[in-house]
Amino acid sequence: LAFDTMRWHGRQLEILDQTLLPGTCQYIVLDTVSAVFEAIQKLRVRGAPAIGCCAAFGVVVGVLEARPASANEAVESAVKSAARLAESRPTAVNLFWALRKMEAIAHGAAGLESAEDVIGALETAAKAIHDDERELCRLIGVHGSPLISDGAGIMTHCNAGALATSGYGTALSPIFAAHAQGVALRVFANETRPLLQGARLTTWELMQAGVDVTLICDNTAARVMAEGKITMVIVGSDRIAANGDAANKIGTYGVALLAQAHHIPFYVAAPLSTFDLEVPDGDAIPIEERAPEEVTEGFGRRTAPEGVQVYSPAFDVTPAALIAGIITEHGILSPPYGPAIAQAAKKV
Ligand code: MRU
Repeated sequence: LAFDTMRWHGRQLEILDQTLLPGTCQYIVLDTVSAVFEAIQKLRVRGAPAIGCCAAFGVVVGVLEARPASANEAVESAVKSAARLAESRPTAVNLFWALRKMEAIAHGAAGLESAEDVIGALETAAKAIHDDERELCRLIGVHGSPLISDGAGIMTHCNAGALATSGYGTALSPIFAAHAQGVALRVFANETRPLLQGARLTTWELMQAGVDVTLICDNTAARVMAEGKITMVIVGSDRIAANGDAANKIGTYGVALLAQAHHIPFYVAAPLSTFDLEVPDGDAIPIEERAPEEVTEGFGRRTAPEGVQVYSPAFDVTPAALIAGIITEHGILSPPYGPAIAQAAKKV
């Protein structure tokens, strides 16, 4: 990969500011919990696994910022930082998964001698979450790439690539792997209104890797399917319920319905940290609503009348019945998803 989505060195958290892509490739330092919170909320760093990694480092940032005088104070500031960061975005469960892990490490470190010891333990844990994620992405590519054969036309929605993770991505990982194996494939990237993660980010990273990618407007999806250009759909997910219902970027559900109508298999790719067994089905997944301005004056130009009512959910839920398979680091889960997910969860 030619870029790092985020990096931790010299006890500093740096992220690639994704709001500036594709025009500007700029890293920013996040040295307070408020800065980490803002970066997640404003989508400077985004994508479910990347949010989790960033929040884990954010807890360390919070403790360093507090300059604790004792181990207890360090634990306290870790818990406080985790609680604050949990308020940044509601849908991607990886955020809460990573914060819970960090809190457990903090509590486990309470008996250590000094604040420095606690910080060291937290730093090691955050780095491990980041490194593990990279390997999980690679494995998703290993398991998913055999689904892609010569001549494949793959539609994807939003960005579930390297920018959304610490590795090769989830949905894009099988594509990168198949491309590396010399499989001739073509990707159709939906632009993904309103914040254009498909147009700005997915095309950017696929082009850098030399993958054949074509950008389409979201409302072109049905047309390219009807033209026979799409042989499969692969998307990522922000939270998968115990029954296999999968939340992903708004518009994904529509793409799944279109795929069904055209008899095209629709796959979801996600690590097990994206599964939420406490949520029985998609109805219980909290869906973030975004500010109206992202729709009415996105990217600095007003495109709707002042004062118009706007409804902007950031995610929708694709029912399990529309999903042909869920590609995880442990292999591809097939329906019925309830038992398959329960079984896979035991491996974590
Ligand atoms: O609002 P975003 O850009 O964070 O939404 C991201 C997505 O919907 C991704 O598809 C999802 O997080 C999976 S990322 C591997």
